[in-house]
Amino acid sequence: MFKILSKETIGVSIVRMVIEAPRIASKIGPGQFVIILSDEKGERIPLTVADFDREKGSITIICQTIGASTKRLALLNEGEFIRDVVGPLGRPTDLDGIKSVAVIGGGVGCAIAYPQAKYLYNSGARVDIIAGFRSKDLIILEDDMKAVSHDLTVLTDDGSNGNKGLVTDGLRKKIEDGADYDAVIAIGPPIMMKFVSLLTKQYSIKTIVSMNPIMIDGTGMCGGCRLTVGGETKFACIDGPDFDGHLVDFDELIRRNGMYKNEEACENERFHECNLDKIGGDV
Ligand code: NAD
Ligand code: FES
Repeated sequence: MFKILSKETIGVSIVRMVIEAPRIASKIGPGQFVIILSDEKGERIPLTVADFDREKGSITIICQTIGASTKRLALLNEGEFIRDVVGPLGRPTDLDGIKSVAVIGGGVGCAIAYPQAKYLYNSGARVDIIAGFRSKDLIILEDDMKAVSHDLTVLTDDGSNGNKGLVTDGLRKKIEDGADYDAVIAIGPPIMMKFVSLLTKQYSIKTIVSMNPIMIDGTGMCGGCRLTVGGETKFACIDGPDFDGHLVDFDELIRRNGMYKNEEACENERFHECNLDKIGGDV
């Protein structure tokens, strides 16, 4: 059992939890993930770790409550316990030798982009963060991202924060203005990572993307998380979750991610019928 040390709502349907997990915190690196089972009735949720504190023995997760399982998790409160947290899983992001980087976060993907930016900033690299959200009310982690970057650009699709554009617009502008990046790290919806990778390919900038396919066991056994990278089958849980964005077949990933939409909708409906009262303003 893993104790929830703190829980806060940081955006629309987005919760941040700090969890006591000293063994995981002692080993985990940026980009690695854990699989969470909130209680005996929950399903396994893979979540890339948003932060960790080796001294305090804690890890931080940021979770968007979009499905029944994430909603069950978000019902737990500070002082309560999560049944299982397994990890660290996957490989840490290879950040060696990066001296100047653009870290791109799309929506909730900013939670996963943040530890990469933090690690590189603390290692002395030049870090520009470009974060995109659909509108102003969905912006998260602005102060956190500001603290680990030399320059933070926050864009909204509808311009409601006074800075209209997609993350690709922000990145193109930086490059055209002369930014000389060794690497771009892009984490967000697959469609965003696809278009960031198409852009950086034009400029031959190394691009790391974090894949979030369907995951079940997290150990390379079930094949649920398979994707095609450079024409080869890879498993996000053991070969990733980070891959070379110029080699990923994003269209296949997008198709596979949509495969269980109907089942998820049914499960969500069942969850709502059982938990309508409890959810209230809590999630
Ligand atoms: P979203 O759909 O609101 O998009 C966020 C931003 O991405 C947009 O504001 C825009 O700037 C950019 N974007 C979207 N489509 C684009 C396009 N066609 N071209 C260029 N830029 C584009 O994001 P959301 O609803 O917050 O969803 C977050 C996504 O991140 C989810 O799909 C989730 O699965 C994914 N995610 C991935 C990881 C990971 O580890 N890879 C972790 C957390 C979340
Ligand atoms: Fe089963 Fe990766 S989650 S093989």
